[in-house]
Amino acid sequence: MNNNFGGDWTSQKIEIVTSYTQAYLTVMKNQPFNLIYFDGFAGSGDIEQDENIIQGAALRVLAIDDPKPFDLYYFVELVKKYADNLKAQIKLKFPERKFVVRSEDCNVKIKDMAAYLRKPEQNMTKVLAFIDPKGMQVKWESLEILRGLGVDMWILVPLGMGVTRLLKKDGNISDAWVSKLQVFLGMQESEIRNYFYADELINLFGEAVAGQRLDNAIVRAAKLYQERLNTIFKFVSQPFVMRNSKNSPMYHFYLATNNTTALKIANSVIKPKYQ
Ligand SMILES: C[S@@+](CC[C@H](N)C(=O)[O-])C[C@H]1O[C@@H](n2cnc3c(N)ncnc32)[C@H](O)[C@@H]1O
Repeated sequence: MNNNFGGDWTSQKIEIVTSYTQAYLTVMKNQPFNLIYFDGFAGSGDIEQDENIIQGAALRVLAIDDPKPFDLYYFVELVKKYADNLKAQIKLKFPERKFVVRSEDCNVKIKDMAAYLRKPEQNMTKVLAFIDPKGMQVKWESLEILRGLGVDMWILVPLGMGVTRLLKKDGNISDAWVSKLQVFLGMQESEIRNYFYADELINLFGEAVAGQRLDNAIVRAAKLYQERLNTIFKFVSQPFVMRNSKNSPMYHFYLATNNTTALKIANSVIKPKYQ
């Protein structure tokens, strides 16, 4: 079976994040920074997969202590019972770690984190962020606020699962979907239409008809999102593309960073997953 298919994504994504984190902490070992791990969609600690229970990324990352752990772990999980379960598991398994679990919307907490990092006394603080939503919950404005900060961010982007599904082929997109796309991409409706659709046509009755969606919407979406991330962060890794059983891309997983070493490490942990 091709490793990129189906349920295996979850394990692969967790492997990418834990391998990267291990390398990140090794690079940071002798550096004088205060290190925070921020997980914006933390889950409950466990993941059910094909009748098995596997450990989620939060517990895997908490287990890394060689060469050193983070100074603080900050977990955000909207659903209270998941947040409570995660908190209980951390207390039990990692009582020595300094951590916070907040049951709130990640968009709110990203803003709070950015405000915290902008305080002059936090100029030696660096954050490794993991943003792992299932859908299109992450607002573009929440990411923009991270510009110029010492944040490395792994982000799961539902381009096939979300964006291209909303971009209807005939261009007739409901107002609710248009607004979802605008919030997610941080673009005006006209910009989104110009990017993904042929020009409006006038039919035989002299009426304006929406242009059809251009070919390769998913490739265009991936190029667009990568370019958008590059307006916030200096570097964006190649994506780890997660495909369904029909080989269609569902999610793109990127590291966005201002640091070249981080970029190199990310590309090296993603690369073997292509083979
Ligand atoms: C894909 S799962 C995360 C899995 C997790 N990274 C792990 O390895 O176990 C997404 C989680 O985000 C939570 N969630 C959904 N919307 C959210 C939001 N706006 N802010 C924070 N958490 C949210 C869901 O309840 C769900 O537990």
